[in-house]
Amino acid sequence: MKLTVVGGGSTYTPELIDGFARLRDTLPVEELVLVDPAAERLELVGGLARRIFAAQGHGGRIVTTDDLDAGVDGADAVLLQLRVGGQAAREQDETWPLECGCVGQETTGAGGLAKALRTVPVVLDIAERVRRANPRAWIIDFTNPVGIVTRALLQAGHRAAGLCNVAIGFQRKFANLLGVAPADVHLGHVGLNHLTWETGVRLGGPQGENVLPELLAEHGDAIADDVRLPRPLLDRLGVVPSYYLRYYYAHDEVVAELRTKPSRASEVAAMERELLTMYGDPALHGKPALLARRGGAFYSEAAVDLAAALLGGGGSPYQVVNALNGGTLPFLPDDAVIEVQAAVGPSGPAPLPVPELDPLFAGLVANVTAYEELALEAALRGGRDRVFRALLAHPLIGQYAYAETLTDQLIAHNREHLAWA
Ligand code: G6P
Ligand code: MN
Repeated sequence: MKLTVVGGGSTYTPELIDGFARLRDTLPVEELVLVDPAAERLELVGGLARRIFAAQGHGGRIVTTDDLDAGVDGADAVLLQLRVGGQAAREQDETWPLECGCVGQETTGAGGLAKALRTVPVVLDIAERVRRANPRAWIIDFTNPVGIVTRALLQAGHRAAGLCNVAIGFQRKFANLLGVAPADVHLGHVGLNHLTWETGVRLGGPQGENVLPELLAEHGDAIADDVRLPRPLLDRLGVVPSYYLRYYYAHDEVVAELRTKPSRASEVAAMERELLTMYGDPALHGKPALLARRGGAFYSEAAVDLAAALLGGGGSPYQVVNALNGGTLPFLPDDAVIEVQAAVGPSGPAPLPVPELDPLFAGLVANVTAYEELALEAALRGGRDRVFRALLAHPLIGQYAYAETLTDQLIAHNREHLAWA
């Protein structure tokens, strides 16, 4: 089996390699290609990747290249984990929206729209080249904003699924609290990427006993701490919102906080410098502990599981993925991309039925889906007016004066990445 990672020079890659090494029975990778235009990073990351494989007795070959077409040639699956503009562009996304009193975040709100506009054309170009090299290859997208990017890929007819680690994070957390194996925990996970709620926690299978009420009663404080929302709110909702819901439910509080502290991008950039120095040390043969301070916990396990299921080699039969709605949430268009539990096999993910969603959550999901549709329009076709429409539609923006200012800011800060600007 040949796997290719686009954005292979990411400091996250050792996390992925560690997962491939540990879980080689689930996903027997013979050749792993790391593609990245940043030669220096790629050499450091590639060197450590080879040492991790060797230390864990993995016989697979690791190839590094800056040649995308050669890298994806013959690949069974291609993982996308790139970041157009790097942490510098993220820093901007996290900063200029704050001037309007709007949240500055890399996937939510105006910053997330900027990221979508920079990213969608690049990902679509890569996907075309993957398809040319092997029309049967699966594309697994971690590249944010995952919901919009996956929608772009599926709309262009690619064999693609979108992946995020929020669900696997909850699965591991809940398994730990309940004292059961993670594979026994089936989440009633519903919504859009970075806009989800755990509406049930079932044991043994998707139809198993729902233990969410007991889980909240016994461990509500720990869970509330984790998602950084007040415990009484969780009790009133009766479900567990992901920590991305904090940007909605506690928007003004978050904005006030973000205004006083260094951006996450600057923290991550500092960590990346430290990580790259560590990766260059020939004595390092595993992922360093520092990597755990990044947000991507368990993402390698989710990726291995998804790739294994899509390539027909095993993996869990049910996984949370970003996939085509196709009537699962009847109040959304069929071609929307949702994040839910799906049966996953070689023909792709098929979302499991979802119980009727409380209007308290459905309203926000519908609103953000409309925003995502307009965001994709803006990413595909460009133009100031399309950017404005997406911003005006976003529930965290909504007012024309803010949408005008943010449109100007978005374009001014991203001109070098926008072909039409
Ligand atoms: C979580 C999210 C990812 C996001 C990451 C950010 O893992 O699911 O989509 O990229 O956090 O983590 P960072 O360490 O870059 O802030
Ligand atoms: Mn994510």
